[in-house]
Amino acid sequence: MILLTGGLGYIGSHTAVELLNAGEDVVCLDNLSNSDISVKDKIKQIVCKTRELTDDNFKVYIGDARDYKLVDKIFCENKISSVIHFAGLKAVGESVKLPLEYYDNNLISTINLLEVMKKHGVKNFVFSSSATVYGAAKSMPIYENFETGAVTNPYGRTKYFIEEILKDVYASDKSFNIIILRYFNPIGAHDSGLIGENPNGIPNNLMPYISRVATGKLEYLSVFGDDYNTHDGTGVRDYIHVVDLALGHVKAVKKLKSKCGLKIYNLGTGVGYSVLDIVNAYNKVCGGKVKYKIVGRRPGDIDICYANADKAKKELGWVAERNLENMCKTSYNFEKKNK
Ligand code: NAD
Ligand code: WQD
Repeated sequence: MILLTGGLGYIGSHTAVELLNAGEDVVCLDNLSNSDISVKDKIKQIVCKTRELTDDNFKVYIGDARDYKLVDKIFCENKISSVIHFAGLKAVGESVKLPLEYYDNNLISTINLLEVMKKHGVKNFVFSSSATVYGAAKSMPIYENFETGAVTNPYGRTKYFIEEILKDVYASDKSFNIIILRYFNPIGAHDSGLIGENPNGIPNNLMPYISRVATGKLEYLSVFGDDYNTHDGTGVRDYIHVVDLALGHVKAVKKLKSKCGLKIYNLGTGVGYSVLDIVNAYNKVCGGKVKYKIVGRRPGDIDICYANADKAKKELGWVAERNLENMCKTSYNFEKKNK
């Protein structure tokens, strides 16, 4: 079985679906701090079309990844072969206000998991890292061997520190197989419209904000700056469909089985879109409902960020296949269903 911490969250739930569809058995551990227990049934509803799910092949534990006793119990009760560690806090702005909560949640959960894994002789680990570890890269596209660590906020530093911890753990015990996946900007939702990104309160990220404007929950999008050094002046990012990202984890789990050692991969499309490109694409699918105003820059934002994802293609056999229209359509569909 594969343990997914944060398995009821946005990326974790899509990954649970794709792993189950690929025939893997899944255990999720989630403390519901940024998700809902109803996601469990939604995962079941999606997967039951391809496979019968029982307590033997899909389980959910509600609790905290920092809880040693609970994680140990999960390893005692299930035959865990690999862990994918999604659980963590992820809001950049909040991390500036609550650094200790971010260091505590993100670092302690990782250390706790690795300790329990060592106790049980389980050495396969996938970590959800982020393009944020590159900071403001000197050139584009970004390759995995670019310098990391010049991060501008506590959230990003937790990702950087965890990467360094994982390198030390691997150096101390080469029987570990560790894959660090650096996600670019995940957006979109499952085709069913049952699972997607559903942040509490006013969204910080672009796509959920646009979706709420398109469905009338918010009035207009504030576009943070139109004076960046990009083709239309608005910020450019590498947006990747969450289902493609989930499929990247299926490939990573397969790679772990080949005793890969420590590997780092960018998961992105290699294409950069601006904020206005996204607004225009979304307006095509929702009939022009996304109104926007240009406002000042958001502190800490960089002008441009996109991946070179050739290494994941070559070594994992993975490429992102879903286009921007699909990302917008599925986001809109999910938002309408969750009105
Ligand atoms: P999410 O908030 O939707 O999912 C995280 C899940 O973990 C939630 O269900 C939450 O309830 C749970 N959780 C948090 N702390 C926990 C703990 N201590 N114990 C157990 N469960 C806990 O976020 P997501 O977008 O799915 O992100 C998943 C991972 O990917 C995170 O580590 C995030 O930092 C990383 N990441 C996300 C993005 C992005 O833009 N979404 C980009 C790069 C990296
Ligand atoms: C995208 C673009 C904004 C909101 C963040 C984290 C990063 C990673 C992904 C976890 C930028 C613009 C946004 C809005 C806007 N997460 N924007 N109006 O900042 O690239 O990355 O999420 O690891 O670590 O920093 O994503 O979606 O917030 O912004 O104009 O209301 O949209 O300025 O150009 P970002 P985002």
